[in-house]
Amino acid sequence: MNNIIECKNLSYSYHDGDRETPILVNLNLEVSMGESVAILGQSGCGKSTLLNILGGIDKPSYGIVKIDGVDLSAISEEKLTKIRSERLGYVYQFHHLLKDFSAIENTAMPLLIKGTNRGAAIEEAKNILSTIGLENRLNHLPSELSGGERQRVAIARAIINKPSCVLADEPTGNLDAKNALSTLEMLINLNQAQNSSLVIVTHDEKIAQKMSTVLVLEDGSIK
Ligand SMILES: Nc1ncnc2c1ncn2[C@@H]1O[C@H](COP(=O)(O)OP(=O)(O)OP(=O)(O)O)[C@@H](O)[C@H]1O
Ligand SMILES: [Mg+2]
Repeated sequence: MNNIIECKNLSYSYHDGDRETPILVNLNLEVSMGESVAILGQSGCGKSTLLNILGGIDKPSYGIVKIDGVDLSAISEEKLTKIRSERLGYVYQFHHLLKDFSAIENTAMPLLIKGTNRGAAIEEAKNILSTIGLENRLNHLPSELSGGERQRVAIARAIINKPSCVLADEPTGNLDAKNALSTLEMLINLNQAQNSSLVIVTHDEKIAQKMSTVLVLEDGSIK
């Protein structure tokens, strides 16, 4: 019962007119509280597709996804949004920062949406950004940041709410070795300090080895 994520017989196909592209087929996955999971797999095997489904962004064609025991298909959009914002932290493969907001505002956004006092939210965002070496980029817009800096801001934004589970799609893909390590450590620290869960999609075996579980997505399911 202490699984943060549970997928049963999950299938997903993209549809475009008559063309169907099956991506995930009868996939089963369980992630327990406190577990850290790496998902490896070849480019195009469906890793981002799977993460989008786990994050409630896309709906499966068949099967069940439960977050903290709640079946995502059985709840309203409003409840889904609430679960996503309160329990999950999502790091997209491509950062998706809000272009008109600075690094510190993007990071603070989940707290501001939740109704946290602006001063406290900005202070917390500053703390997190400082731990990942962005203390001198607080007021830069995404367009004024490097690719790796944007990725770090996206990670800071995903963890500021202290979510039960962070879903991260190649979170260190644009980073040099030193920054990849410090960013990964930040994710692992959150995972250990709060007994939260971490699911990382990666191509990097070194990152995968730091996780408690390593899974491979192949032919549409977890091997
Ligand atoms: N809208 C779409 N319509 C049809 N096929 C799609 C669509 N979006 C993605 N796909 C296909 O689904 C497959 C899985 O895509 P996905 O982005 O999940 O792969 P991935 O494992 O994350 O790859 P990468 O490691 O390159 O990021 C790919 O072969 C892709 O071409
Ligand atoms: Mg991908």
